[in-house]
Amino acid sequence: MAEPLIRMANIRKSYGRVQALVDANFHVNEKEIVGLLGDNGAGKSTLIKVLSGAVPLTSGDIFVRGKKVNFRSTSDAIAEGIETIYQDSALVTQLSIARAMHFDSDLIILDEPTNNLGVAETQGVLSFVRSARDSGHSCIFIAHNIHHVFQVVDRIVVMRRGKVVADDIDPKKTTVAEVERVITGMSDKEIRDAISDGRDSHG
Ligand SMILES: Nc1ncnc2c1ncn2[C@@H]1O[C@H](COP(=O)(O)OP(=O)(O)OP(=O)(O)O)[C@@H](O)[C@H]1O
Ligand SMILES: [Mg+2]
Repeated sequence: MAEPLIRMANIRKSYGRVQALVDANFHVNEKEIVGLLGDNGAGKSTLIKVLSGAVPLTSGDIFVRGKKVNFRSTSDAIAEGIETIYQDSALVTQLSIARAMHFDSDLIILDEPTNNLGVAETQGVLSFVRSARDSGHSCIFIAHNIHHVFQVVDRIVVMRRGKVVADDIDPKKTTVAEVERVITGMSDKEIRDAISDGRDSHG
């Protein structure tokens, strides 16, 4: 099988005593749009910060087209064709004008902050991701609205507590509810119990 565009193997990242990434394994194929999902604090931003050279990893390996790389800065990652757009940056408001074809990078990463974007900005981001596919880029799309992710990605990867716990979810063959269960790690019964506990405590 061909090497993926990006492969991250056994990535660990500790911030002091906080283990943000615990042996995370992740890959992105050429011309693939990957949705990266997970609850708050699951490690999504840390994984892409490591991939984009913004923070150093504690241990593990990153390969670009099978070649091992060692990113010391974001410019090292950009030189390998990896570019990140933080969705709380000024750039995001321009995305609905911008098109991915204007990006030189092979992989465009979009990381949405927890607070939601406005409707116009959101539509801009979604059409930008679609344009990334049309122009043959690869893309990692992090968004808190699962429905948005379902609309635009080829494959869904879920992180939980610093690990990738599912990396082959086809949005065309899966429901949002099933993915939510993977994100929370809860069974149907646990979800029902959690809901009824909430009802009990709130009266
Ligand atoms: N600079 C930092 N210093 C200390 N701990 C950090 C730092 N950045 C992240 N963490 C911790 O690492 C873990 C993973 O955080 P991360 O921001 O990667 O999660 P996330 O999946 O992007 O969450 P969100 O959906 O809220 O954006 C969390 O426990 C977080 O508190
Ligand atoms: Mg984040």
